[in-house]
Amino acid sequence: MTTALPHSIRDRFPLLERAVYTNSCSQGALSREVRAAYERYLTDWDEKGAPWDLWVELAESARSRFARLINASTDEIAVTTSVSAGVSSLLSGLRHPDGRNKIVISDFEFPTIGQIVHAQELLGTKVEHVPASSDATIPLERLAESIDEETALVAITYVCFRNGSKTDVESVVELAHQAGALVLLDSFQAVGAIPIDVRELGVDFVAGGTLKYLLGSAGLGFLYCRSDLLPQITPTQTGWFADEDIFEMDIYDYSPSPTARKFESGTPPVPSIYAGVAGMDLMDEIGIAATERHVATLTDQLIEGLDRIGARMVTPRDPARRGPMIAVATTDEQAMVATLKEDGILTSHRDGNIRLSWHCYNSAEDIEAVVAGLQRHSRLLVR
Ligand SMILES: Cc1ncc(COP(=O)(O)O)c(C=O)c1O
Repeated sequence: MTTALPHSIRDRFPLLERAVYTNSCSQGALSREVRAAYERYLTDWDEKGAPWDLWVELAESARSRFARLINASTDEIAVTTSVSAGVSSLLSGLRHPDGRNKIVISDFEFPTIGQIVHAQELLGTKVEHVPASSDATIPLERLAESIDEETALVAITYVCFRNGSKTDVESVVELAHQAGALVLLDSFQAVGAIPIDVRELGVDFVAGGTLKYLLGSAGLGFLYCRSDLLPQITPTQTGWFADEDIFEMDIYDYSPSPTARKFESGTPPVPSIYAGVAGMDLMDEIGIAATERHVATLTDQLIEGLDRIGARMVTPRDPARRGPMIAVATTDEQAMVATLKEDGILTSHRDGNIRLSWHCYNSAEDIEAVVAGLQRHSRLLVR
């Protein structure tokens, strides 16, 4: 799409007529296309009964879209129901060829990554956390101190869900690979907002989902696994849709698919696939690179506004170290979210901060409305 964002697309999101929406880091706004996709699901179900051929085909088309989205091949993609499901399956089968048994994890991880990694301690894995520095980054030197000859995996997040800090993924990958460790990237706060190319990044595994900047809804995600690593991973957390031949219905055998489908589980989340495919198609039409450029202009404008009213931004100022979400320190995060909601501004909070997240449909007027709202409630701002 070549017409300028956001005005070319705002009318596709009815919510924007009623509210200033700056909460895409929780969930993307509902589009007319995604609503229509859910209606299509109900119609297909009603008219066709149980059209499983169609639904399995649709799951395959979700796989192709995820692959295209991150420049992977379809055999490298598992279609999952969540980041948690994909990563749990991955870690249930990941064994380092050298017998290494330590996972290094950044302190910016989402709870599910931390909890799944710590669950591996029950099986003898050692876990080491890498803390953030006061500038809301995870310094490479600190990572370097933790990644050693025992490290099998390094878990990092592209954009931190708490403070919007964006990781220098290529540098972490270089560091980890030099030490013989693999890298798992949680892309949920980036995918759809920032172009992702797994070949350029060099990552080994990527997890993400459609709920946020891919404009889908809950219940659909993906796990990427680099093709040459597939033969050495055999998940023990599995299900019949991970089998080599799904419809063989063999209960005497475990023969997982040789492709990344081995990380799948049970019956696919059909309604979420309708929605997720529609959301991904919409982002494809709008353009993720165009969205990233548009959002960079908006976040620059927001930062000027925050400076003007004396608000304290928690996200790094360096444009290379931030993405679509800017976090602002508050004295009472819940009160700030509630009071902005009364003004028709929808945001969310984590860790003492409000999270102001921006997408293709946000406008310069939205930024001004948010800055004015923060100024009105400046008693709740940390200065
Ligand atoms: C960075 C990140 N990872 C993971 C998740 C969610 O994971 P799951 O799909 O397992 O619910 C979120 C959701 O809010 C997130 O922000």
